[in-house]
Amino acid sequence: MREFHFYQPKLGHGLKHDPLNSIVAPRPIGWISSQSPEGVLNLAPYSFFNAFNYTPPIIGFSSIGWKDSVRNIAASKEFVWNLASRPLAEQMNTSSALVAPEVNEFELAGLATAPSRLVKPPRVLESPVSFECRLSDIVQLQNANGGLIDTWLVLGEVVAVHIDTAMLEDGVYNTVLAQPIMRGGGPTDYFSISEAQRFHMHRPVVDK
Ligand SMILES: Cc1cc2nc3c(=O)[nH]c(=O)nc-3n(C[C@H](O)[C@H](O)[C@H](O)COP(=O)(O)O)c2cc1C
Repeated sequence: MREFHFYQPKLGHGLKHDPLNSIVAPRPIGWISSQSPEGVLNLAPYSFFNAFNYTPPIIGFSSIGWKDSVRNIAASKEFVWNLASRPLAEQMNTSSALVAPEVNEFELAGLATAPSRLVKPPRVLESPVSFECRLSDIVQLQNANGGLIDTWLVLGEVVAVHIDTAMLEDGVYNTVLAQPIMRGGGPTDYFSISEAQRFHMHRPVVDK
C-alpha cells in the first residue's frame, strides 16, 4: 500500500522544509536586467520564471513583492532576460543580493554589459543567450477567493534574441552547450544538465 503525505498549504506542510520549490523543480532562471527612470542598471534572478507562448514569444517572471525589477519595468516597459549558465552561477547569485535601488548589480557581480538593440536595458555580455523584451502585462496575483496578493507576474514579449553562435550546431540550438543552471528547492539547491540526461519521445499521432 502506498502512503501519501497529505497537507493543505494554508494549514502548514508538516515537514521540515516547505517542499513546494523542490517539487516544482528544477526551474529555469529568469535573470532580468532592467533600468530605472534615473538610469540605474538592475540585474536580478527570478526562478518563478518560464515561457508562456511561441508566437509571439512571451516570457514571464513572478516577483514576490514589488521589487526593483518590477518597479523599473513598470516605468520603462522593457527588460532583458539573460541565460544564467554554469560559469555564471556565482555572479547570478551575487546579483540577488538585497541591495538599495541605487546599486548596479552588474558592477556588484563583476559582469560586463552589452548593448541591446531594441530596448534600453543592456544584456549581460558574458551570457550565451539574451532576449530583449517589451512589457506586455503586469498581473497582480490573487488567491482563490479573489484576494489580492503582494506578488506580481511580469510578462513580456520577446522582440529580439541574441544567441552566441557557439551554442549552434548545424543551425540547431544545443541546450546542453549553453550549460543552463536551474533552481531546485531549499536554500542552496541548483541543477545543471548534461547530454546523459537527454531522452527522446515523439508526440502521439492520432488517426482521424
Ligand atoms: C536563484 C534565485 C531565484 C530567485 N527567484 C525569485 C523569484 O522567483 N521571485 C522573487 O520575488 N525573488 C526571487 N529571488 C530573490 C531575488 O533575486 C532578490 O529578492 C533580488 O534582490 C531582487 O532584486 P531586485 O529588487 O533588484 O529586483 C531569487 C533569488 C535567487 C538567487
